[in-house]
Amino acid sequence: MIQALLEEIIADCRPLAAEGEPASYIPALKEVDPSLLGICVVDNGGNVYRVGDTGVRFSIQSISKVLVFTCALSHSGIGKVLQKVSIEPTSDSFNSIISLETKNFSKPLNPMINAGAIACLTLTNGDTAEEKAGSILELARRVSGNEAVDIDEDIYRSEKATGSRNRALAYYMKSTGIIDGDVEELLDAYFRICSIRMDCVDLAKTALLYANNGTVLGGGQVFRPGIARVVKATMTMCGMYDESGRVAVTVGLPTKSGVGGGILSVVPEQMGIGIYGPALGAKGSSIAGLGALELLSNRLELSIF
Ligand code: DON
Repeated sequence: MIQALLEEIIADCRPLAAEGEPASYIPALKEVDPSLLGICVVDNGGNVYRVGDTGVRFSIQSISKVLVFTCALSHSGIGKVLQKVSIEPTSDSFNSIISLETKNFSKPLNPMINAGAIACLTLTNGDTAEEKAGSILELARRVSGNEAVDIDEDIYRSEKATGSRNRALAYYMKSTGIIDGDVEELLDAYFRICSIRMDCVDLAKTALLYANNGTVLGGGQVFRPGIARVVKATMTMCGMYDESGRVAVTVGLPTKSGVGGGILSVVPEQMGIGIYGPALGAKGSSIAGLGALELLSNRLELSIF
């Protein structure tokens, strides 16, 4: 039944891709077929349902912010993390600089926007960019259960060459004391982790791990349930940036998007959902992917609210 439903949803939502465009502010991201669309659902019974372009690998971009937040909480504890970043929603775009100066004593508003993720990276393990990016990549492999998850070097180089906005955010935070180390080293780690490459199945398996509060099906724990709870609540409020409120109403699940076209969505205690569609809507999330997620949540009555 789920397989047939996913087929219907992908057929219905494919035309939506024509209403969006791939991100172009990172030049390498626009070298992609905008009509691609894939969805994968994995559940606690070990079933994997996949329809469409689910084998295409893409950079997870801001979805890596979920991993950075998880890593910072595990490595440094919530007390230290909340000294660097708030956990409040924002009505500004993901790379906005304005709230850093005007709101909340210069702390980034939440870990799901660029400034917040860069701040959280100071609290993950590793000193050099390579070590920091390495520990997030290792977490990405553990949460997805796929050792082949890697970094897309072309995207990384493209981001690094054009990341002026992120440099502005990071240097501003250096001036206010949120960042105290080498800014370029930290940014290098940030550009690398945005370029982590997965497919929809990897994303869905990652989402399932959060659905199961850090416990792998069949045994083993990657992070503590308390951390999963904090990350899922933050994703629900902030994961879709300045459309998080609308997505809470229309989808009702902890969800995180990235400008590479990926969407990760968590159905607590039940399933993980991974979606890929590189044509983005106005707020920077996959336009057809979000349409598919809304349909899936409504048809299966998945909203947690
Ligand atoms: O730093 C950036 O702007 C990108 N590497 C990531 C932004 C992103 O994915 C926002 N998502 N919708």
